Amino acid sequence: MSTFSITINGEVYPINLTNDSSVTPDTSLATFIRTKTNYRATKVSCAEGGCGACTVALTYVPPGETVPVTRPINSCLAKLLSLNGMTVATNEYIGNKLIGYHPIQTKLAELNGTQCGYCSSGMVMLLYAYLQENPNPTPLEVEQILDGNLCRCTGYRPILDTFKSFATSTSFGEWQESLSQKKNAVCLPAGEPQPHPSGGGADP
Ligand code: FES
Ligand code: FES
Repeated sequence: MSTFSITINGEVYPINLTNDSSVTPDTSLATFIRTKTNYRATKVSCAEGGCGACTVALTYVPPGETVPVTRPINSCLAKLLSLNGMTVATNEYIGNKLIGYHPIQTKLAELNGTQCGYCSSGMVMLLYAYLQENPNPTPLEVEQILDGNLCRCTGYRPILDTFKSFATSTSFGEWQESLSQKKNAVCLPAGEPQPHPSGGGADP
């Protein structure tokens, strides 16, 4: 197959491997996005599937099925040739300063979940794609999807707070309540003897 196409942010990109020597069957989606389109939010850091900076949302119809699904993927690992007929959304597509920001983008900024910004696009697209298929996740579920995306700046807490703000309100409330109960159980008021970490008697 030397001719195929992929849709990125609503625009169809025809690809002809015979006519364009800069694109090969090995070209990754991340490379294509960054060199053949005007979109630069998608970052490449490790280029081996370990950091999630390159995460985009991929929509496709799985083999044998008729209903399309949307998944977050590491675009540095996805070879263009395997994406024939599929649809990609990047961070710019779901929100930007011209059309208005997406609630995930807004919340990440409001909660100070972005510093250098290198991971931010991937974080946003990870949650965005996940919510397409799982619109009512629990706080635990949104916490667990974070395990493939790394951030070297923020310490994760504000990113996690952003993710959990999109969990179902009931379960988010339950999570907050259980968290404060745990805190109350382990943190005694200042000045009082604290329990020993070994589980033994309190420190003098
Ligand atoms: S650049 Fe690190 S997972 Fe793609
Ligand atoms: S904000 Fe810098 S890597 Fe996450």
